[in-house]
Amino acid sequence: MREGIAQAVRRADYAAPAYWIRSVELTFDLDPVRTIVASRMAIVRNAAGAGGPLRLHGEDLEPLRVLANGQSVSFRSEAGELVIDNPPEGDFTLEIRNTCSPEKNTQLSGLYTSGGGFFTQCEAEGFRRITYFLDRPDVMAVYTVTLRASKSRYPVLLSNGNLVEQGDLDNGRHFAKWHDPFPKPSYLFALVAANLVAREQHIRTRSGKNHLLQVWVRRGDLDKTEHAMNSLIASVVWDEARFKLPLDLDRFMIVAVGDFNMGAMENKGLNIFNTKYVLAHPATATDDDYAGIESVVGHEYFHNWTGNRITCRDWFQLSLKEGLTVFRDQEFSQDMSGSATARAVKRIADVHSLREMQFPEDAGTMAHPVRPDAYVEINNFYTATVYEKGAEVVRMMQTLVGRDGFAKGMSLYFERHDGQAVTCDDFAQAIADANPGSELARTLPQFKRWYAQAGTPRVTARGRYDAPTRTYTLALDQHCQPTHGQAEKQPYVIPVAMGLLSRDGQPMALRLEDEPPTTATERVLVLEEARSFYTFVDVDSEPVPSLLRHFSAPVTLVDGLHDADLLVLLAHDPDAFNRWEAGQRLALNRLLAAVRSDAPLQLDAAFTGAMREVLRHPTLDAAFKTLVLTPPSETYIAEQLESVDPQRVHAAREAMVLQLAQALHADWEWAWDAHQVGGPYSPAPEPAGRRALANLALAMLCLDATARGDVLWQGRAYQRFKDAANMTDREGALWALLASHSEMADLALPRFHDLFRGDALVIDKWFALQASAPERDGRVFARAKALLKHPDFTLHNPNRARSLVRSLCGDNPAAFHRADAAGYVFWSERVIELDAFNPQLASRIARVMDRWAQLAEPYRSAAREAIARVAARTDLSNDVREVVTRALET
Ligand code: TRP
Ligand code: ZN
Repeated sequence: MREGIAQAVRRADYAAPAYWIRSVELTFDLDPVRTIVASRMAIVRNAAGAGGPLRLHGEDLEPLRVLANGQSVSFRSEAGELVIDNPPEGDFTLEIRNTCSPEKNTQLSGLYTSGGGFFTQCEAEGFRRITYFLDRPDVMAVYTVTLRASKSRYPVLLSNGNLVEQGDLDNGRHFAKWHDPFPKPSYLFALVAANLVAREQHIRTRSGKNHLLQVWVRRGDLDKTEHAMNSLIASVVWDEARFKLPLDLDRFMIVAVGDFNMGAMENKGLNIFNTKYVLAHPATATDDDYAGIESVVGHEYFHNWTGNRITCRDWFQLSLKEGLTVFRDQEFSQDMSGSATARAVKRIADVHSLREMQFPEDAGTMAHPVRPDAYVEINNFYTATVYEKGAEVVRMMQTLVGRDGFAKGMSLYFERHDGQAVTCDDFAQAIADANPGSELARTLPQFKRWYAQAGTPRVTARGRYDAPTRTYTLALDQHCQPTHGQAEKQPYVIPVAMGLLSRDGQPMALRLEDEPPTTATERVLVLEEARSFYTFVDVDSEPVPSLLRHFSAPVTLVDGLHDADLLVLLAHDPDAFNRWEAGQRLALNRLLAAVRSDAPLQLDAAFTGAMREVLRHPTLDAAFKTLVLTPPSETYIAEQLESVDPQRVHAAREAMVLQLAQALHADWEWAWDAHQVGGPYSPAPEPAGRRALANLALAMLCLDATARGDVLWQGRAYQRFKDAANMTDREGALWALLASHSEMADLALPRFHDLFRGDALVIDKWFALQASAPERDGRVFARAKALLKHPDFTLHNPNRARSLVRSLCGDNPAAFHRADAAGYVFWSERVIELDAFNPQLASRIARVMDRWAQLAEPYRSAAREAIARVAARTDLSNDVREVVTRALET
């Protein structure tokens, strides 16, 4: 075993530290093999604490010397800790000198090298891999950092805060000294030493203050930084306008690095980003990449207030900053998108990913509450539940207090807690206290069950119309299944935004009995009991209910609507989200019927006609049409089943897509012609939506052509692939060839590789496209396996590893779940290989097996066996061990 099996950390065991560190001076002599770190800490006893030994965290470090008040002091090294049994009385200064080896740091946590430079990643517990410290978020210190390094190899030396001094040293070395005036937890520390260049922008904010914004990249990448800079400026403007939160720093830096475990990191004043979320050029980045950059730049920038100014007391409170900041970045992207439909398109995308990632998590072996009660490895809890479900919890608060009420609540939160490390309770309390008399204030203790209970509640709706009394009674029930370690669930507070439509699609006024008349056609019902009844009066005819509009709560809705009702909603619902949802439900009903009966899917004219009507609709946005015309994913279909045969699911979905391609052939031809985009590239929602629809049309036309043995459209797709003026169109054309199993894909792929060799992010796409192409006869799996040996492939770069391994195992169920279990063998081998040098990444990939218990035979037994094979190893990291152990406990 590496360090023995780690004990679980429990939320209930939280205790304030016995000592605080108020300030720290750090000096780095940077060297890839052996970096020397000197730290000088001002240590203060916690008046409320018991004193006793001072225990500092430390991992993979070599201590050189320890001085307390300038005198040497005895210390012991324990597992992961440096212990000083007899620290001096009162407050004192502690000086520590230690070494670490950035070059050997393959985990990418702590101080590591990438592309010939030095970078850090400290969240959650990476700072202890740099020097000995109280590496916990409630210990906040003021940092002064001096970096020394070779001037020719590392001309740029960056850390948090303001540059206060720089100059040359002997032996071709130079130094820079940085001071960050804001006390911060160690996880927000960062340094960069590398050969980089910056795009710079000076801005003046509302208060009249000047600020310097920088985006640092490698020399050749400067022409790919414009979009990131624009996104950063937009983020600054938005946070001031929407939440009155100004930029509090003279200098705000973003640095791009090619080796990075996650998306990006919000270090104070020095955000470090995966290149994927910085670099964009029309020739190399797609519309989705542009949108991803805008949202991640926003996300990290917004953390400056929600995360950095107010941080987490302990890691169980992670959603305090992550759920809130995801909510903020989602709102930002919506506000940036412009039209009402563009906002709905963004909302649909967010709900889509919630259902695709978080719902399975909540139903699987790693299910945990938004605020977990225990963890073995905190890195395993940077999850869709903490992030995306956490964001939905914040959104529900906004729904319950209103938009203005929520802004007031945010102000109170900052008034009360600026500069502190706090809990999710503190946040919810501030929002409620700022809105006395609101539904949130009234229900707060019960509302907070959203933080405490894991699992996705199921809301069942039944409506009854009574013609003689002109009343419509809606019964809403809620129920939540038991999850891992949590058998009992209490009722949640569930805001159900809703409306009623007449059968000819007219919105009806919503008056509940005992209420005065109203003209409102949308309202929010707040379900608190296991079952409630709502009786609407003055209802002239039997209505079609439109429930859970804009997905007002993260629940599964079972409304029992028939096709005829769904067709009304698809044609007329004024809520764009539910309009889309109605289309998905129509498709899902057909897919589930085919999968359950194992009969070939045969699309009916009612369905194809409705889809045609959307496709040809004169006023709907192209982006919205694309979403409606895309059937639910295989993952989402699988989530609706009790027992899943991934091959059957794949066959049904493929049949549906092919029949849509055939039945709507002429419409797809029209769509292709009518949605071409000329002129200079812009990632704005309108042209991006047109490109998305044109690309969907092209894929449909190619599929239909293959089925007919005609190659005309493949020829066109290949032509488009060659001539495309931007990556969205080029990738779209390549995808059309791959998805239609065209032989021309075999011409296009090498050409694509030749064109972009040396551009890592595009080569990632090249791997990912091949690994996520629709499976047929095992060819995609065989190709992915062969690609492991491609000279460009390496597991050591996280983006590259994900592009092949995650794409195959996580995003391509039909290629992965094979009757011969070869996919599971592939998975177990990669997890074990990765775990030897990057446990965080290995653990994320391990999690593609979360839902193994739901598989039908022979997949289920084979999957279990593969997990057991991994679990049987004695040399696993805590990260992977926690995941596979929990998987086998199911
Ligand atoms: N806090 C970061 C964010 O939400 C993500 C993060 C957490 C991270 N742990 C990390 C990034 C480890 C890289 C590596 O934006
Ligand atoms: Zn975050």
